[in-house]
Amino acid sequence: MTIQQPEDNAQYQTDNNLSIRQRLHQQYSTNKRGLMPWLRHQMTIHSGDCILELGCGNGSLWQGYLGQLPSTVALTLSDYSQGMVDLVTNQFGNDQRVNCMKIDAQSIPFSDESFDIVIANHTLHTVPDIALAIREIARVLKPHGTFYTAVNGNQGMEHYLHEAIQSIQPTNMAFAEQLSFNLQNGVPQLDRAFSQVHRRDYPDSLHITKTQDLIAWIQSTNMADDGIDDKLLQELTAYFETLRQRNGAIDIPKQVGLLIAEK
Ligand SMILES: C[S@@+](CC[C@H](N)C(=O)[O-])C[C@H]1O[C@@H](n2cnc3c(N)ncnc32)[C@H](O)[C@@H]1O
Repeated sequence: MTIQQPEDNAQYQTDNNLSIRQRLHQQYSTNKRGLMPWLRHQMTIHSGDCILELGCGNGSLWQGYLGQLPSTVALTLSDYSQGMVDLVTNQFGNDQRVNCMKIDAQSIPFSDESFDIVIANHTLHTVPDIALAIREIARVLKPHGTFYTAVNGNQGMEHYLHEAIQSIQPTNMAFAEQLSFNLQNGVPQLDRAFSQVHRRDYPDSLHITKTQDLIAWIQSTNMADDGIDDKLLQELTAYFETLRQRNGAIDIPKQVGLLIAEK
C-alpha cells in the first residue's frame, strides 16, 4: 500500500524555496567545480540509453548540459509536484528526447526493466515510504542498470546550523533530525535491493560573505515546523553577523556525495 503524500506540499509547489538554496550554494561554495558538473561527470550515459529522473525539481542537473547528451537517449524528467513538471516542460519540453511527467517515486508508472539509468538527487528523504520507492526504482531498471542518487551527509550544513541554534537556545532541536535517507544511512537501505552500492564524496564547504543570504536559506526551509520563530531568527542574524564581521565570512562545512547502486 502506498502512503499518501499531500498533493499540495507548499515547500515544492514552485521552485521558489529550492532556488534560494541553490543560489546560496552556487554563490558561496568553495569547490569551484560545481556539484552539478561533478555529478554529471560521475554518470556513464551511452547512446540509446533510457533515463528516468525522479524528483527532478527545476531540472538543474540538465541546465547547460542537455546538448552534450547523445541524440539517441530518451530522458524522462519527473516530479511529484506539478509545478516542477511545468517548469521542466517549459525549459526542456521542446527537445524530442525529453518527456516530462508527474510521477510519485513510490508508484512508477512504467513496466519492469524499462530504464538503463534512474536518477533521484536529494529526493528520497522527502518520500514517505523510502523502501517502497527503492523497490520501485530497482523494478523499473533493466538488469545491470544503474541508480544514481546525490545526497547530503549528517555532518554538513544542517549539523552546523543545529549547533549554532543550540548555542542560542539550548533546547531547540531545529536541524537536529538526521535525514531519513543520507550519505551514511542510504547505503544499507540500497543494499537490500541492489547488488552493489558505491559512495563517492564531493569535497566542499561554504564561505558566506553576506549574512542575509544565509538567513534567506533558513527562511526557505520549513523553519516554523522546526521551532524557529521570528525572535530566534533575529538572534541568529545577530549571531552570524558577529561571526562575519570577526572572520570576514561565515564558514560552514558541507557533506555531500553520490550513491551509485548497480542492479
Ligand atoms: C530537494 S528537491 C530536489 C530537486 C532536484 N533533484 C535537485 O537536486 O535540485 C526534492 C524534490 O523531490 C520532489 N518529490 C517529493 N516527493 C516526491 C515523490 N514522492 N516522488 C517524486 N518526487 C518527489 C519534490 O517535489 C522536489 O522537487
